[in-house]
Amino acid sequence: MKVLVVGSGGREHALAYKLAQSHKVSKIYAAPGNGGIASIAECVAISATDVEAICNFVVENDIAFTVVGPEAPLAAGLVDALQERGRAAFGVTKDAAQLESSKGFAKNLMKKYSIPTAAYEIFDDYAAARAYVENQKFPLVVKADGLAAGKGVIIAENLADAEAALKDILLDNAFGSAGSSVVIEEFLNGEEVSVLALCDGEFILPLEPSQDHKRALDGDKGLNTGGMGAYSPVPIYTPELAEKTVKLVLEPTIAALKSEGIIYKGIIYAGLMVENGEPKVLEFNCRFGDPETEAVLYRMESDLLEAFEAVYTGSLAHYELKWSDEPAVCVVVASGGYPEAYEKGKEISGLDNVNENEAVVFHAGTKLIDGKIFTDGGRVLTVTAKGKDIAAARDKAYAAIEKISFDKAFFRHDIAHRALK
Ligand code: AMP
Ligand code: GLY
Repeated sequence: MKVLVVGSGGREHALAYKLAQSHKVSKIYAAPGNGGIASIAECVAISATDVEAICNFVVENDIAFTVVGPEAPLAAGLVDALQERGRAAFGVTKDAAQLESSKGFAKNLMKKYSIPTAAYEIFDDYAAARAYVENQKFPLVVKADGLAAGKGVIIAENLADAEAALKDILLDNAFGSAGSSVVIEEFLNGEEVSVLALCDGEFILPLEPSQDHKRALDGDKGLNTGGMGAYSPVPIYTPELAEKTVKLVLEPTIAALKSEGIIYKGIIYAGLMVENGEPKVLEFNCRFGDPETEAVLYRMESDLLEAFEAVYTGSLAHYELKWSDEPAVCVVVASGGYPEAYEKGKEISGLDNVNENEAVVFHAGTKLIDGKIFTDGGRVLTVTAKGKDIAAARDKAYAAIEKISFDKAFFRHDIAHRALK
C-alpha cells in the first residue's frame, strides 16, 4: 500500500525507515520530507501544516495510510480532516492533541484526576504572576502554555530570572499566542525518562523507554533544546517503575480524557521525572519524541505499519511488539548556534562513508540539491547505532560521527552519560 509520512525531521526519517521495512508498504511519500527521507520516499513540497493540501494529495494519490509525525499538524486537525474524507491515519485528533498543545489543559486534567505531577498555578496576567512568584521557593519553572518546540520552558534560579521569563512570555510575546498564559510550577529533582506508548482509544501498549538530553551542551549545560541525543532502554526504568507508570500515569490519563469526551488514538509520550522510583509527569506530548524515536524505532523488530493499523482498527490488545535486546544510542549533530540563531546551506560531507552495519544516519534539517546534501535546520542529523551494551552503541555512534562533517557542526560528547556513570 501507499503510505504518506507528514513531517521533515529525524523522527520522520526514522518513521519512514521503519515503514520501508514493512512487507505491506509499496511506496512512501513524505510531506515535505528532507534530504535523507528523499532516499527512501518521494518528497512532495507540501507543508506539514497545510491540512487542505495534504488531504487533497492523499485523495488524489489514493494514499492508504497517513502517518503524522509532528504536533503542529495534529493540533491543526489534520487527522480529523483525513477522517472526514474516510482516510486512514495514525495520529491523534485535534481535541486529543490539547494534551500537548496546552500545558494548562494537561496540568488541569492531571490535577482533576490525581495523576502525579508538579504543583502549579496558571496565570494570564503579568502582575498576578509576578506577585505569585515573590512568595515561591527557587528554582521555579515557568512554562509558556502553548507549543514552543521545546523552548518555552525556563528554569528560574531566582526571582530576577522568574520576572524576566514572565516579562518575555506575558508582556513581550516571545512565544506569540503560545504565551498568552503561563504555567508556573514546582521544580522537580530526579532523572528524566521518556515513555512512549501506542493507544487505540482503550488499550495501551508501551514502547521501550528512552532518555533524552535536553540541554545543548555537555554536562547538561546550556539552553534547553528539542533534544541532543537519546538512548534506549533506560536502566533506571525498572519493570516495577514501568508497571507503576502504566497504572498511575498512562491508564488514568487515557481514562481521564475519555471522561472528558476525548478518545485518544495514536501515540502518547509521557515525559517523566523519576525520584526514588516514583514517576511524576513533566509533560505530555501527543506524538513520537525526537530524537527518542530514532533510538527506540531502531530497536523495534515488529512491522511498524502493522502496529499503526492495530491502533487504527482498535485491535492493540491482541498485538505484541518485538524488540532487539541490543541498546541503541543516537547523537544529534546540530548547526553551530542552535537552539538560537544558526546558518543553513552548508554542504555535508562524509555521509557515504558511514556503513549501514555500523550506524544509520537519520536526517533532521537537511536538503537534497543536485545530488548533494546541505544543512537546512538547527538539528541536522541524528546518528544512531546499536551495540552489545550502551557503551558499545555509543562508541559506534561517535565513530560514525567522526566520518561526517560540515561547517560549524556541533554535538554533545556525553550522550548516555547517566546510564554509564
Ligand atoms: P517540558 O517541555 O515541560 O517537558 O519541559 C522541558 C524540560 O524542562 C524538561 O524535559 C525538563 O528537563 C525541564 N523541566 C520541565 N518542568 C520541570 C520541573 N517541574 N522540574 C524540573 N525540570 C523541569
Ligand atoms: N525530545 C523531546 C521531545 O520530542 O519532546
